[in-house]
Amino acid sequence: MSELAEAPPPKLRLSKPVQQFIAKKRQILIDGKWSDAASGKTFEVYDPSSGEVIAHCARGGKEDIDRAVKAARKAFESGPWSKMSPSQRGRIVAKIGDLILEHLEEFAELEALDNGKPISVARVADVPLAADLFHYMAGWATKLEGDTLNLSVPSTLAPNTAFHAYTRREPIGVVGQIIPWNFPLLMAAWKLGPVLATGCTVVLKPAEETPLSALRLGELMHEAGVPPGVVNIVTGFGEEAGAPLAAHPDVDKIAFTGSTEVGKLIVQAAAGNLKKVTLELGGKSPNLILDDADLDVAIPGAAMAIFFNHGQCCCAGSRLFVHEKVYDQVVAGVAEQARKIKLGPGLDPSTEMGPLVSTTQLERVTGFLESGRRQGAKPIVGGKRHGDKGYFVEPTVLVDVKTEMKVYQEEIFGPVVAAVPFKQLDERLLTQANDTIYGLAAGVWTRDVNKAHAIAAKLRAGTVWINCYNVFDASMPFGGYKQSGWGREMGHQVLNNYLETKAVCLAYPDQF
Ligand code: NAI
Ligand code: MG
Repeated sequence: MSELAEAPPPKLRLSKPVQQFIAKKRQILIDGKWSDAASGKTFEVYDPSSGEVIAHCARGGKEDIDRAVKAARKAFESGPWSKMSPSQRGRIVAKIGDLILEHLEEFAELEALDNGKPISVARVADVPLAADLFHYMAGWATKLEGDTLNLSVPSTLAPNTAFHAYTRREPIGVVGQIIPWNFPLLMAAWKLGPVLATGCTVVLKPAEETPLSALRLGELMHEAGVPPGVVNIVTGFGEEAGAPLAAHPDVDKIAFTGSTEVGKLIVQAAAGNLKKVTLELGGKSPNLILDDADLDVAIPGAAMAIFFNHGQCCCAGSRLFVHEKVYDQVVAGVAEQARKIKLGPGLDPSTEMGPLVSTTQLERVTGFLESGRRQGAKPIVGGKRHGDKGYFVEPTVLVDVKTEMKVYQEEIFGPVVAAVPFKQLDERLLTQANDTIYGLAAGVWTRDVNKAHAIAAKLRAGTVWINCYNVFDASMPFGGYKQSGWGREMGHQVLNNYLETKAVCLAYPDQF
């Protein structure tokens, strides 16, 4: 902490509220109260642009998870939350959105510091999108409607009897949520917004790499009027705090975003009490540029598709298929974009790409670059670590990529795109685009609207962007086909993740 105040040049100095927030040991939130972990242990939080320690957080474990689940259960069954009208609940959810916007600068600083993303991006993307998610979800609190049903029970079975049958949408109960580090505040918002709109209660475990903004959000939630026990936040590591949450017998539903590998562990852990599961996992998304595309739009679009958030996006356009007629121009254009990107600490307002989030991710991504080189892929720009301080990697465009290479098949989660030419738009191309274990997102660039929709229908992906990429909106469902996950986030579809449907059937005499 003390190094932080001295190390960065003046323009990177943190505002008072953020300085004060990180100076204090951050605790876990259970039943509206902040406390140390039961073990008394803490862990260090790092600035990925320098590797220096910036904060200390409580290192939650099984005992803390048990206590948090108990508080969430009590709040769900008998607290003021359980009796609150949908309208009151909606107003609280909207207020959270308002408070995020009031603290926009503070959140942008926290994200830039903790995750490493450019503050200029956090200001216009992460923070306003998080606020908007709460504003959007607030409206749903009053619109969780059931249906009335027309039964066809034969009169031979029920003579002189009629039925009044309807469905009720009810909150699923106590929810566990485990989120990653790539969009720390936004992932917390995607998860918590629908939980609150539907009237559930929750135990949230943020990623150990980036716990700070979720903890600040926890403070604001109580300011907004969320009653104690409704939102509990336990910081800590995956195996120590995440695993007991996923396995907990009194948790009704678990929602996870992260690696496909851990997603499978979550499914196994959830089997004990058959809690409901939704997952948002990895991707290796195809991005197709046809020969009739407007290249002035498609080239910067393809660059943004992979380099946004340093490639640390589950939906990153990491396999770039380009028609051979325009392949050289596109690849040179994307490489030129890559060369122009200004790398630096997230807090520097002129930074366009920050560091990767951790040493682990740095090693993982440079490991992929090494494997690509060994297998014969050629970086026409980038290809290695940038500098020797912090976890920076050069934006990289790989050519001469073969389908059997690891860099083509596996999720790299860094600023590395594999470019592949194609001869013509045909079934073979679409088969190749779909030939991955994932199915999260895809991009298509063309001036031909008929082709665009025909391709969109054939891509096995939860989102297809046409002449754009990385467009997110609270109203647009997001999630994966195949091993990219189960269920959808955002839109009204996410509400299904947190609601049970109850059928109620009343018999009454059909005679007077
Ligand atoms: P991860 O899946 O290990 O971590 C995500 C979250 O899961 C964190 O909160 C972590 O503490 C928790 N976790 C880890 N092990 C757990 C367990 N056994 N039980 C319960 N919770 C557990 O992902 P990691 O290690 O940070 O990144 C590895 C790779 O995963 C990345 O390189 C990337 O390919 C992918 N990833 C995908 C994300 C997405 O948005 N779909 C986000 C982050 C990573
Ligand atoms: Mg992990």
